[in-house]
Amino acid sequence: MPAHTIRIRGARTNNLKRLDVDIPRGRLIVFVGGARALGDRGPLAKRPRTARGTVTVTNATRNNLKNVTADIPAGVLTVLSGVAGSGKSSLAAELLAQHAAVVIDQKPVSTNRRSTPITYTGIATPVRRLFARHSGLPASMFSANSEGACPECEGLGVIYTDLAFMDGQESVCETCRGRRFTAEVLGHRIDGLSIADLDDLTVADAARRLPDKDIRRALRSLERVGLGYLRLGQPLTTLSGGECQRVKIAKELRDTAAPTLYVLDEPTTGLHLRDIAVLLGLLDQLVDQGHTVVVIEHHLDVIRHADWILDLGPGPGRHGGRILYQGPVAGLTGTATAAALND
Ligand SMILES: Nc1ncnc2c1ncn2[C@@H]1O[C@H](COP(=O)(O)OP(=O)(O)OP(=O)(O)O)[C@@H](O)[C@H]1O
Ligand SMILES: [Mg+2]
Ligand SMILES: [Zn+2]
Repeated sequence: MPAHTIRIRGARTNNLKRLDVDIPRGRLIVFVGGARALGDRGPLAKRPRTARGTVTVTNATRNNLKNVTADIPAGVLTVLSGVAGSGKSSLAAELLAQHAAVVIDQKPVSTNRRSTPITYTGIATPVRRLFARHSGLPASMFSANSEGACPECEGLGVIYTDLAFMDGQESVCETCRGRRFTAEVLGHRIDGLSIADLDDLTVADAARRLPDKDIRRALRSLERVGLGYLRLGQPLTTLSGGECQRVKIAKELRDTAAPTLYVLDEPTTGLHLRDIAVLLGLLDQLVDQGHTVVVIEHHLDVIRHADWILDLGPGPGRHGGRILYQGPVAGLTGTATAAALND
């Protein structure tokens, strides 16, 4: 192997398909997720949406902010822009301090290893009821901690053997072969699927194959944010940052009816250009449902897509903390952000 190359062979972590990669040393390497969307340039919001009232931040002096008062339009998409250190996150923190708001970020949805798309979407109970209707058995039999569970492993699918002075061993249960339920329960199928088959099913497949409107509605909320490919049994602790963000948006789109103020601080972090287009679509859906969305962003496509821009600066730290412009994006001139947009 040449000394100037870093080699990765047969990488299979998570969804990688036996990747072989040679990375030259001493160069700047950019990883992209497919070239299709590269080079696309988003248009300015065709016609900025009209505000339905304002959310006002009054006399903000947090960190470097210079006694800033800002009217953020309600019911539209606003972007907070400005050079690094100009005070965007500080203004967002002040917005959160002065108004009820929901932060949507890329942090884990859950730290519980048992939570999966099944538990998260709340379909566990309707799934058991569906199997009960088809089989005539009580719904509780289709729960892995009931009498429907394999008696040998008690519904765990694995057997733990504790050996004195050694680490415990975990082995697949021989009675149920890891399928967690009794043979009787596993014999009842819907569209060929037993209760144990559901974990391996994708959200999209399950939405097509499980004939129940509550289940379909819950699963479609994940499909519509582009997560139809997740398996129902995948622990949510294993989701990527961008996937976590989408799961959170899915929940808001599904469950939140009252007009709500959403704040996102650099939501395009780590996203491919194609995923940024998906994110913009989701932000539009939130706005279309009557919500107010405030996004801190440097990404020009997001800025171009916004109905309203609040540009902070002119510099970082004590050289910033002032509002340079607030209004429709098309009217922005004479700032670092305006220069970047016109490049
Ligand atoms: N807790 C703090 N204590 C003191 N100064 C702070 C604190 N938090 C932020 N600052 C300073 O306030 C200024 C504005 O910071 P802020 O995080 O709001 O910038 P930003 O516009 O969000 O920048 P970036 O684009 O890098 O996220 C910066 O100069 C920063 O160093
Ligand atoms: Mg910031
Ligand atoms: Zn078992």
